[in-house]
Amino acid sequence: MDLLNAFVIRQSDSKVTGGFEQLKREELPAGDVLIRVAYSSLNYKDGLAVCLKPGVVRSYPMVPGIDLAGTVVESASPDFTAGQEVVVTGCGTSETIWGGYAQMARMKAEHVVPLPAGMSLKQAMGVGTAGFTAMQSVMALEAHGLKPGGKPVVVTGAAGGVGSVAVAILAKLGYQAVASSGRAEMAGYLKALGAVEVIDRAVLAAASPKPMEAEKFAGAVDSVGGDTLAGVLRMLAAGGSVAACGLAGGPKLATTVFPFILRGVNLLGIDSVRVNNAGRRAVWQRVVADLPLGKLDSMITVQPLSGIQELGARILAGQTRGRVVVDVNA
Ligand SMILES: NC(=O)c1ccc[n+]([C@@H]2O[C@H](COP(=O)([O-])OP(=O)(O)OC[C@H]3O[C@@H](n4cnc5c(N)ncnc54)[C@H](OP(=O)(O)O)[C@@H]3O)[C@@H](O)[C@H]2O)c1
Repeated sequence: MDLLNAFVIRQSDSKVTGGFEQLKREELPAGDVLIRVAYSSLNYKDGLAVCLKPGVVRSYPMVPGIDLAGTVVESASPDFTAGQEVVVTGCGTSETIWGGYAQMARMKAEHVVPLPAGMSLKQAMGVGTAGFTAMQSVMALEAHGLKPGGKPVVVTGAAGGVGSVAVAILAKLGYQAVASSGRAEMAGYLKALGAVEVIDRAVLAAASPKPMEAEKFAGAVDSVGGDTLAGVLRMLAAGGSVAACGLAGGPKLATTVFPFILRGVNLLGIDSVRVNNAGRRAVWQRVVADLPLGKLDSMITVQPLSGIQELGARILAGQTRGRVVVDVNA
């Protein structure tokens, strides 16, 4: 392959543009592992980057695409060999490191993990950063004492990427997962993933004069933030925790200290980017153990890279369902 098809974002005279280009292999940044990319994926942050919104890309030119999965072409690291299938999820990709919206990528070995056992490249991108974050969120809740058998665990933004994977994992682990969604038509999809109940997202986001409400949830995975997270905090049971991992509904959080000081609830921050290689492998091991592949397959839609800007606009508008895998060779 002499020329690589890539989506490239450039800045010139403070004007940011994005489009397809043919790159030479030598133009890829330095790194120890050269990977022939098969699939990338579409995360909320990818939508921001390809739609040229500020806040994600921090150096130019940039090949966005937070995630990638493919086959090692050559490796200067003893940890990887040519022909091996590997995965990269958010590690600064699309921010300062070139990512997966190109037919090849050159990465530092510390950011690369072997394709998890039993999973295809497409399925690994079905997980991608969104699914990785959902798994991290559940692990954080467990580390703060969550166990099956208690009150339900609520998942916000449930029909999205993080949400869908979180619902499926929680159900597999024996929790009663309550899915909060703004799309009533997703109820069947969410129940098939294992949700015991689907609630309208307005329930959590509604304004309340009370600093706390009835103790409904033992835990929460929140990919929405804003008023939704404030509502979740008011409804967490004593000792419960919320893994706060997203801001699809807004970055501001207006709350009181009462849930923290009267119910001992925990607000756990989740960051999927600054995770070392051993930590990444540990999260993937849990994904393999706790995310049923049949349910993962039901979340996946495969789309061509050629339509990436339209796909980006759709995820920002909350119109995608589950996980979009991007075929970078189409
Ligand atoms: N912390 C991390 O490291 C990390 C990693 C990955 C993602 N994230 C963040 O997690 C969030 C979700 O990412 P994703 O890839 O899962 O995106 P996604 O697929 O678009 O899912 C987001 C979901 O949130 C709901 N939603 C959208 N707009 C909303 C609004 N205005 N108010 C309330 N709910 C809304 C929708 O679910 P319903 O239709 O079901 O309501 C949507 O499907 C994003 O903010 C992303 O940046 C963070």
